[in-house]
Amino acid sequence: MHRLNITVTYNRSMPRLTVDGYGTFDVPADKRLVLAIEQDAGVDILHACGGNARCTTCRVEFIDGEPSKMTAAEKERLAARELVGVRLSCQILCDHDMAVRAISRLEGSGRPDPGKTPEDSITPPAQWV
Ligand code: FES
Repeated sequence: MHRLNITVTYNRSMPRLTVDGYGTFDVPADKRLVLAIEQDAGVDILHACGGNARCTTCRVEFIDGEPSKMTAAEKERLAARELVGVRLSCQILCDHDMAVRAISRLEGSGRPDPGKTPEDSITPPAQWV
């Protein structure tokens, strides 16, 4: 007699990213949020400094799932610009479900392009605080 063992495992390893007004998308785990917003959600988010925590044009407002950890570079830049209530999407990894508002987009910015595409890894190298 043959016995067939089947194990069904529910494994949702891809976090869900919701961008207000655009929809909800499965994104690769630990992808930079700025890249997920641009490439997976198809939003024309700005990233003028190329994802280096300098320009703040990649800023987003969190609706849900705001990360508690922050890179030292993001913390320093937000403080220097006296920005509150926003986060720098170039300094955040998609490691859990999150919902954001893309409040800084190419459309209406007067800029010729969104900026150099950020590298796959956080730059400068992430120091979590
Ligand atoms: S601060 Fe410039 S792209 Fe994030």
